Amino acid sequence: MSIPAFTPIALIIGGGSNVGINVAKKLLKEGYGVALGSRNPDSAALKQQGIFPVSVDGTSSESIQKAFKSVRTNLGEPSVVVYNVSVHFPLPTANDPLSVSSDDFTKSCKLEHAVFVSAQEALASFRSIKHSTPKAFISTGNILPFMKDGPMNFVMGALQKTTMATLMNYSNRAYAAERIRFHYATLVGLDGGIPNLNPLAEVGFFNSGPAHAEAYWDLISAENAKSWDYRFTYDAKAYVA
Ligand SMILES: NC(=O)c1ccc[n+]([C@@H]2O[C@H](COP(=O)([O-])OP(=O)(O)OC[C@H]3O[C@@H](n4cnc5c(N)ncnc54)[C@H](OP(=O)(O)O)[C@@H]3O)[C@@H](O)[C@H]2O)c1
Repeated sequence: MSIPAFTPIALIIGGGSNVGINVAKKLLKEGYGVALGSRNPDSAALKQQGIFPVSVDGTSSESIQKAFKSVRTNLGEPSVVVYNVSVHFPLPTANDPLSVSSDDFTKSCKLEHAVFVSAQEALASFRSIKHSTPKAFISTGNILPFMKDGPMNFVMGALQKTTMATLMNYSNRAYAAERIRFHYATLVGLDGGIPNLNPLAEVGFFNSGPAHAEAYWDLISAENAKSWDYRFTYDAKAYVA
């Protein structure tokens, strides 16, 4: 795939049929060269859509580093990076957060390490790009880090997202002077809480890919940087309490 000299590049880690592919298509439309990563990408289908497929385990820091290397070699330094992976660890015993095995806890922590390494790699890429194209790292969030009474079964997800949110908060402030943005972007329901998670709902998380794509583009393309903690609703507009 050949990319003209000034085409901005985006890397999306976690390329499913909801958020990942919709963000990829939006960025393609906006003129980006797009790499979409998952553990088992449908390479032929992605290439047909003009998307560069990357095999990556988003919970492995080594795999993330290889993915960045591949994108740099094949497309160029990414100026937009989206981290969209999460791993759910259901509680072995209901309402017992400490029933998670030590091994599973360690696996969950690997994801947090991988987010950190993704942000580090992204920062190195952003700093190497001399062109004034927007530079943004967006991690797909949920509302769990901000809830005082989050659902017990999602304790591991809450830990993953809390690390992610904290990294985005600190990084967004630290690199703002370089015009580098870090966001924790969260689809929320109409009341600002957890969106409808029924896969059959007419409007809910599972058909929110296009809304994610529009909201992420708003974050990337905004003249003035929006908040690191960015919440939006089903119409892709910022959530206002
Ligand atoms: N706002 C909310 O309340 C809310 C609710 C639910 C979910 N979320 C967030 O939304 C994100 C996922 O959304 P989605 O709809 O895009 O999910 P999705 O359509 O299921 O896509 C996730 C994709 O990520 C890939 N993936 C899974 N594990 C991976 C790994 N270890 N490394 C690399 N790729 C991996 C999978 O492909 P492979 O199998 O090929 O790897 C899958 O296709 C997560 O961050 C989740 O926490 C937010």
